[in-house]
Amino acid sequence: MTATLEARPADPERPDGRVVDRRAAVPLLRRLRSAEGLADPSPVYDGLRALGDLVPAPWGGYLVTGYDACDQVLRGRTWLVPDFAWQERQTETGRWDAVATQEMSRTLSRLNAPDHTRQRRSLGNLFDRNTLRDMEPQIEADVAELLDRLAERIRTDGEADLSALVSEQLPIGTVGRWLDIAPEDYPHILTMTHNQVHAQELLPTKSQLAVSEQATMDLREYFTRLVRERRDNDGDDVIAGWIRTWDALESDREATDRMVYQLTMFVTIASLETTATLLSSLVWSLLRSPGRWEWLRERPEHIDDAIDEALRYDPPVRVNSRVAGEDTELAGVFLPKDTMVHVMYGAANRDPRRNPDPHTFDVLRRGTHLTFGGGAHYCLGAGLARLEARALLGQLLRRFPTLRVASPPEYAPRMVFHRVTSLRVAA
Ligand code: HEM
Repeated sequence: MTATLEARPADPERPDGRVVDRRAAVPLLRRLRSAEGLADPSPVYDGLRALGDLVPAPWGGYLVTGYDACDQVLRGRTWLVPDFAWQERQTETGRWDAVATQEMSRTLSRLNAPDHTRQRRSLGNLFDRNTLRDMEPQIEADVAELLDRLAERIRTDGEADLSALVSEQLPIGTVGRWLDIAPEDYPHILTMTHNQVHAQELLPTKSQLAVSEQATMDLREYFTRLVRERRDNDGDDVIAGWIRTWDALESDREATDRMVYQLTMFVTIASLETTATLLSSLVWSLLRSPGRWEWLRERPEHIDDAIDEALRYDPPVRVNSRVAGEDTELAGVFLPKDTMVHVMYGAANRDPRRNPDPHTFDVLRRGTHLTFGGGAHYCLGAGLARLEARALLGQLLRRFPTLRVASPPEYAPRMVFHRVTSLRVAA
């Protein structure tokens, strides 16, 4: 049976002996994926916090809402990602045995040590200082070109969709060039990645799983072919480099190609929507309040602060899951081995014990956030995402001093991967 918000395992007991009703979080989670909750999750985060640092999830397991508890889960050795072996132990069907879920369970983010350590070591620091410095001029040039198109559209139509014209295009252009992918394939890749992530929602519906399954097969076909071509060409691109590294580590060529396909597909999925959402949310956060745009224009030295505050305020990935590798305790609650917990990045970043007055967007806050995760799985592309955001914001501020919002953002109705589908601007 596929889990639903109504499914209801036994209510757990708190350290103080109080029994917590698993249904308490249902209205809050419903609201989180509603249009109002997507636009402003503040009341949901407050509501969850009122239920505690560890809120029993309606379908079993827990939602982790407090910053420190989330941090502990992300960094602690007790906590594992729900890998293939964990999924095999689940009796619930529908989600864990779905093709889309199973395919993802073999990618980097769903591996535990020692396989995870081996893959991370083989990759090294993908976007170190020198690599980012080399990529920067091209990213700046790409931004300039995208903003030419934005200006042209505003000139002809009076307004334009920043999200579709710029935020979506910059990350695929950047990662596409880095992986040496043909630009004519970009639209296909964007469609596949938008459709694949449904399976990573907390409670995907049957139809979402079906869309995701098709996208997963398309991605598999696309990237398997790409890896085969790179092996045949034996060039000096990033993917050919990964093939050579793994050929030296593995005797089985087929295993190498499968691994490189999974890696390439995962890095592509991980890098696109996330960065696109950051770019749109960042611009929206600055434009929604009068005076902020002008303030930052006069103080470009605070561009990095604005990016970090946008990351804290509106994390593109809102939830991530871990499972207890052994019997353990979290926020005073005993959790048996295999218990699943959902790290609520958005709620953690708005924990007032960590970031006072958390629902206020404050460029000068210098707050802390968990938006790129933590511990062994910390995001490999954080530096690149920041670089893209810096290039875009710097040029937007200089070229569009009177930029304004023509209509507020629209969002995909999802709980885990936050996606801005439209942000219309005028100048
Ligand atoms: C604003 C943009 C981005 C956000 C918010 C973001 C967020 C995240 C988060 C939350 C994780 C999981 C961390 C954890 O489990 O503790 C992650 C992992 C990852 N990200 Fe990002 N990401 C972004 C951009 C990128 C980009 C641009 C790339 C690559 C080009 C990338 C590649 C990866 C990879 C490979 C992992 C898996 C790391 C592992 O499991 O070891 N991400 N990211």
